[in-house]
Amino acid sequence: MLGIVFTSLIDMLEEKVSPEFADEVIVDAKLSNDGAYTSVGYYPFEEMQKLLTVLAEKTGKSINALIYDFGVYLFGKLFAAHGEVLTNTKTLLDLFEHLDDDIHVQVRKLYPDADLPRFAVISRTDSTMRLRYFSERDLYPLAEGLMDAAAAHFDCQLERETHPMDSPHTYEFSLKVV
Ligand code: HEM
Repeated sequence: MLGIVFTSLIDMLEEKVSPEFADEVIVDAKLSNDGAYTSVGYYPFEEMQKLLTVLAEKTGKSINALIYDFGVYLFGKLFAAHGEVLTNTKTLLDLFEHLDDDIHVQVRKLYPDADLPRFAVISRTDSTMRLRYFSERDLYPLAEGLMDAAAAHFDCQLERETHPMDSPHTYEFSLKVV
């Protein structure tokens, strides 16, 4: 998993709580590199799971709720770092439609070893979309947070439901722009 995801999580803890709290979480997570992440590095997903487990213990929030909150925050960080990838994207549904064949493709050019999920548009109308998500990491709450932050970025409201599919690591989002 990319370093920018880890440095963004630590930034969120420092900003939303305090640098001391962020340090406490890093120490208690007993990470192999003591949390010395760089935004251009690559680190095992297990390290993210260790950080989230400690965070859940300290906050009493569920890991999925923490991953959702992080998704909302991460959109701003990704946009600040690589907003250029959204230059041709005019609407929220266009963003979702081109996640797999444009947005994340541009990300892969920037970070060849990125662990990116797969998205497929099942159906689309002017204001609705069924979007399928596949990832071995099952980070659908992160996708939910990123989508809600993207909706705010495009100044619109998003109604969404998440449905786990029978095939493993696959979820379908029913989306409606209101
Ligand atoms: C609302 C739109 C977006 C959604 C729903 C989305 C979804 C996701 C999800 C769920 C992941 C976690 C990996 C996984 O699931 O296995 C991810 C990773 C990532 N996404 Fe997106 N993304 C969005 C927009 C963007 C944008 C605009 C950028 C860049 C400016 C971006 C760059 C990345 C990067 C760098 C990663 C990390 C890959 C890694 O850790 O190796 N995403 N995205």
